[in-house]
Amino acid sequence: MIPEVSGIIWGKMEPTVPHRPTGVREQVVILDFGGQYTQLIARRVRECQVFCEILPYDTPLPAIRARQPKGIILSGGPASVYEPNAPRVDPELFLMGIPVLGICYGLQLMAYLLGGEVQPAEEREYGRTLLTVVHSEPLFDQLDYHLTCWMSHGDHVQTPPPGFVILAETENTPVAATGDLQRNLFGVQFHPEVSHTVFGMHLLRNFLYTVCGCQPLWTTRNFIDETIEAIRQRVGDAHVLCAVSGGIDSCTVAGLVQRAIGEQLTCIFVDHGLLRKGEAEQVRELFTQHFPSRLIFVDARERFLNRLQGVVDPEQKRRLIGEEFVRVFEEHADEIGDCQYLAQGTLYPDVIESGTRLAAKIKTHHNVGGLPEWMRMELIEPLRYLFKDEVRAVAQELGLPPSIVWRQPFPGPGLAVRVLGEITGEKLEQVREADAILNEELERTGWARRVWQAFAVLPDVRSVGVMGDQRTYQHPIVLRVVHSEDAMTAEPAELPWDLLLRIANRIVNEVNGVNRVLYDLSSKPPATIEWE
Ligand code: XMP
Repeated sequence: MIPEVSGIIWGKMEPTVPHRPTGVREQVVILDFGGQYTQLIARRVRECQVFCEILPYDTPLPAIRARQPKGIILSGGPASVYEPNAPRVDPELFLMGIPVLGICYGLQLMAYLLGGEVQPAEEREYGRTLLTVVHSEPLFDQLDYHLTCWMSHGDHVQTPPPGFVILAETENTPVAATGDLQRNLFGVQFHPEVSHTVFGMHLLRNFLYTVCGCQPLWTTRNFIDETIEAIRQRVGDAHVLCAVSGGIDSCTVAGLVQRAIGEQLTCIFVDHGLLRKGEAEQVRELFTQHFPSRLIFVDARERFLNRLQGVVDPEQKRRLIGEEFVRVFEEHADEIGDCQYLAQGTLYPDVIESGTRLAAKIKTHHNVGGLPEWMRMELIEPLRYLFKDEVRAVAQELGLPPSIVWRQPFPGPGLAVRVLGEITGEKLEQVREADAILNEELERTGWARRVWQAFAVLPDVRSVGVMGDQRTYQHPIVLRVVHSEDAMTAEPAELPWDLLLRIANRIVNEVNGVNRVLYDLSSKPPATIEWE
């Protein structure tokens, strides 16, 4: 029987608890208590080649059981177990015979619920801390007795629950790691998922492989094989429309669906007039060279720009664009006939940032929250649980060319979220030209490959300048160039000063209506990568 991989492609618009029947792939469940590192825990588990899903802490036990997890990880979180509304789990969770690893708040909660004692620490421990191991097995197996870990906590466990032994301690934390070796319940006060805990991956592997008995099955090859099979099963003889933008996510989806159902796939590229300079032509060429599928190319520039007239609110822009995309897709799906499915390249960070029940909504990624209620087609989203680096690995394995694999991410709403305030043809032209100059210079100096993303933004302000003895009152251009691993966090790139000056100089000289250039020095958080 073909294994179902429901967490991967089924489930239409439910970001936190996708429908997942039994008989599924080996996985670990991470219960999220709102900790800032929860996504990082998931990434680390995946790096150990074990599939995992993040679920809200109050997911009912039957829903957890249905996933048949080999282990459960309780994340950190900002609460204190003694607060009246502190997030809790049903203590039955610890009786299911499934190994548990509590991290920080996760440990404190487990200790509290099982009869241990949790106290506010006299001294808050934060940062790198020396850890002494007092009992190696199984979490600290093959590790030194003195280790450096990363701590970030107020409360700590003073006395572990009955049946638990202390595994490690620090100067201020008597129970830095603890476990009930019979019931396979473990907890650590430090954060094994952050890179400052150098042995963190080793500890996670000990938990996943030795305690939970997981195997390193979450590999790119397995993902591809299972996904292709699942798409075939789901689609049958029907047709699929795949929305492509030329970026890595949508091209990877097209590659997977193409391998699954061949000629039943039609791709569609919509030029909404919000693309970068020369982009529509490039995508067309790239597609023709590398994909055997049929491509419908739609020139919808006027239609989108009309729709966006007078709109200034970023969320409204995203919603309108998302809606208009679906209108165009459905019109063309009608032409194809028996086309019930729309495949698109939604990633895990899009889902997370569009707001799950626990995580606040940061912005509506047009392909998640921007989809209208009235949409008829069902979604196929094979990458919905993947991080960007995992998608790159899939794309490489599928043999997509480096120009796609390493293409800079570009948001679906395109330049609409880079022209702040009302969008006009003139502003779009300015931001497009400035963007082209920036990227041309980065390409010329070898910086293009070293950064995650580089683009221009046109803020909705004007300032006074002087050009050729004349006063100007024009828009500035903001340059945004960032390093990132997975778009969840980002740092501004330290471009050489002379390169920045050259770019700025070219922009004010070559782009009409721009008299000033600024460089954005913000990290994410607190900013986001895009400005809207
Ligand atoms: P933010 O601005 O949220 O962006 O830090 C994170 C990454 O996602 C890209 N991005 C989008 N991609 N649809 C997309 O396909 C969107 O609506 C969207 N918004 C942002 C952004 O360029 C960055 O790489």
